[in-house]
Amino acid sequence: MKFSVSTGDVTKAKSDLMMVLVNKEFAKDQNFKTLDKKLGTLLTQLLKRENFEGKWGQSKVVISHKKIPALYAGVFGLGDKDKIEYECLRKAGGRISKIASQLKTKKITLGLKFGNLALKDPAKIAQALGEGLILATYEFLRYKKKSKNSFYLEEVSLIIDDSKKISFLKKGFEKAVALGAGIFLARDLINTTANHMTPMELSRSARGLKGVKTRILGSAEIKRLKMGSYLGVAQGSKNPPAFIEMHYKPSGKSKTHVALVGKGITFDSGGLSLKPPKQMETMKDDMSGAAAVIGLMSVISRLAPKVEVWGYVAAAENMPDASAIRPGDIITSMKGKTIEVLNTDAEGRLTLIDAMTYAQKRKPTYMIDCATLTGACLVALGDRISGIMGNDEKLIESLISCGKDAGEKMWQLPLAEDYKDELKSPIADYKNVGSGYGGTITAGLFLQEFVEPKVKWAHIDIAGPSWSDKSRDYESIGGTGVLVRTYAEFLERLSK
Ligand code: BES
Ligand code: ZN
Ligand code: ZN
Repeated sequence: MKFSVSTGDVTKAKSDLMMVLVNKEFAKDQNFKTLDKKLGTLLTQLLKRENFEGKWGQSKVVISHKKIPALYAGVFGLGDKDKIEYECLRKAGGRISKIASQLKTKKITLGLKFGNLALKDPAKIAQALGEGLILATYEFLRYKKKSKNSFYLEEVSLIIDDSKKISFLKKGFEKAVALGAGIFLARDLINTTANHMTPMELSRSARGLKGVKTRILGSAEIKRLKMGSYLGVAQGSKNPPAFIEMHYKPSGKSKTHVALVGKGITFDSGGLSLKPPKQMETMKDDMSGAAAVIGLMSVISRLAPKVEVWGYVAAAENMPDASAIRPGDIITSMKGKTIEVLNTDAEGRLTLIDAMTYAQKRKPTYMIDCATLTGACLVALGDRISGIMGNDEKLIESLISCGKDAGEKMWQLPLAEDYKDELKSPIADYKNVGSGYGGTITAGLFLQEFVEPKVKWAHIDIAGPSWSDKSRDYESIGGTGVLVRTYAEFLERLSK
């Protein structure tokens, strides 16, 4: 999608659809007034009839009858000025994108007065709006031809009232275009079915990313590294594991080193602790953590954060083959700790701990892991909010705040020591599951046992938001690519 930014009279713009973004005080908006006047007060009349109040999400599109160069003219309500957040702009972008598609318009013009928003950062305003406009056009077409009717937006020109802000807005749109590509890749990786998206194939998608050095370790190397916990999960599948590491180094010197670890189970059948069929249906999405990390790394050189970033994925498939790990088996992790695997469906944590042990050999400042780890997280927080835990309150706070701007909600759960006893095994150092209650927390506590005390660590359980059951403002059914935006925002803030 192409974006341009300029100042001037919105009604003069040549495009298919001209839309002004207003708040509740739309009657005072100069763009609205000019447009309405050119249309012979048609908008005022219709909006009154139809109770348009500039509330969030209200919109009206009319045919311009050649009174302006654009074929259609419209208004989009953003609501109360003080309540407009970046996420409102992202959603508005998504809805406008869909309106444009319905009207089969390729080129639109948007008019925005900065006075309509209380938000201060022009780059982030454009970024959020741009992300919504782009993300809403996503379609997964690997297995199905594009429908003849779809006709997607190609060009957006934004007309503002302050020429000093143009360069910032352009930067924001550039970032949106980059992130859009990263999120599209993440969604494609998740949506591709598990017969095609094997660990090997996932590792291929991490190869050749611009500005990133990627290394793939195969079974033999994984064995040599003594990643016994990860191998235990992988051994039940005919598709061999692939350990992926990706490295981005900024051009200048950086003292900060961020390790991003993503769960990469390409299919989670549960293993011998087999899942019921219904719960297995969407388990191709069990590599959504990996998709977030790879999606981000695929565009990181365009985002150019000033910190060093390493990405890690211990990719494997969790299957109940004759060689599969059995409930009750004991395995030895890379750290040397033994684990009694009582439930082979609690496999994510077994792969993550070896990836985390490996990642920490490089002594990162921050280590953030993300995983579709527990069904319990869906029970606790629903399917739109991720659970976050960790050993550093500042890091957690920062990630939650980045998530808020990125439109990716997170809620902190306590890593209460009270539940640590549940992971004690009579015959090994740990067992891999707790009693059943508080499953998201016991999973977090299990991971924490493998975090070095000096590393600032956060764990994000994305079991809910990784997948969308329905098409929303800028999301479509299937993988969402959640966390790509939050991670990008986090790295940007670290760069300041
Ligand atoms: N991949 C699942 C978690 C999951 C469930 C993700 C639903 C997305 C939607 C994970 O590997 C798993 O099966 N966890 C078990 C843990 C239990 C055995 C302690 C679970 O949540 O039931
Ligand atoms: Zn599982
Ligand atoms: Zn899983």
